[in-house]
Amino acid sequence: AAGIPIGAAVAGGGHRRGIADEVLEDPLFREILDRDFASLTPENQMKWEVVHPARGTYDFGPADAVVDFAEAHGHQVRGHTLLWHSQNPAWLEEGEFTDEELREILHEHIAAVVGRYRGRIRHWDVANELIRDEDGELRLEQNIWLRRLGPGILADAFRWAHEADPEALLFLNDYSVEGIGQKSDANLRLLQELLAQGVPVHGFGVQGHLSLTQPFPDTLAENLRRFADLGLATALTEVDVRGSVDEDGRLSPADEQEQVRWYRRLVGAARATPGFTSLTVWGVLDSHSWVPGFFPGEGSALLRDEAGRRKPAFAAVEEAL
Ligand code: XIL
Repeated sequence: AAGIPIGAAVAGGGHRRGIADEVLEDPLFREILDRDFASLTPENQMKWEVVHPARGTYDFGPADAVVDFAEAHGHQVRGHTLLWHSQNPAWLEEGEFTDEELREILHEHIAAVVGRYRGRIRHWDVANELIRDEDGELRLEQNIWLRRLGPGILADAFRWAHEADPEALLFLNDYSVEGIGQKSDANLRLLQELLAQGVPVHGFGVQGHLSLTQPFPDTLAENLRRFADLGLATALTEVDVRGSVDEDGRLSPADEQEQVRWYRRLVGAARATPGFTSLTVWGVLDSHSWVPGFFPGEGSALLRDEAGRRKPAFAAVEEAL
């Protein structure tokens, strides 16, 4: 109703990640995607280790499955992601390439992946998680592209993506940037610099992986507005609200109510932000969520439980829209 498309990450990309690509063939899952969501993000299927398993060899099967499904069912797609420090294949991270070769590898990858879906992907997370948690500086050691080619590679990556699909909105995406703080400030400055250089960057993606064990980012709406004021689109790209869970993976009743409030506040911030483009939750069913695997003792972060039942937060999002 508010014109905010609600999206979901589609689990898969699978052989290495535990959840098979067949999830898209499950009738219940397909029905839920159709009923609840207007935008889909491949959770792993477009990451380097899945889509580019050997130099110059692409495996588009898992990514195609998501894009084809989205297209056949009228969903938008958010492409994720092209330049990141994580989930890169060993051939890339450990290979012995000259700087010139590495540049060419990145250029070819972006041209191949973005070009394959030209006109079919609405938003691309071109660059992901560039800023360090500790000090708000660029990940100059951890990120192979920044380490080897320097920060100037960012402008190139966005330009190459724009050449491959001039219609796509190109995003910089990060986590722990929900509120105003060192990391969101650093992303804001970086975007200002890129815009000043005339780089085709169009949006800022705030992942939105929140934990009820930490404070809610009270300055979210204000923060999003700073990016909107630069003329950028904004999005919440990977929302989940996890909490401490019992042996059955359940939140306490108090946390469940708190989760309802948090989801409502996320939608409220989205509604308050001009140029807000979509709110994506990082999964559909709690059984597919990355949370229990990455944050031991926490879970129940999504809008539906393992069996596909709507949780109280589901109704809260619906009402807040
Ligand atoms: C996560 C996926 O959900 C997991 O399946 C995978 O094992 C690791 O990556 N930030 C991102 C996402 O940008 O790509 C990450 O997705 C979660 C954190």
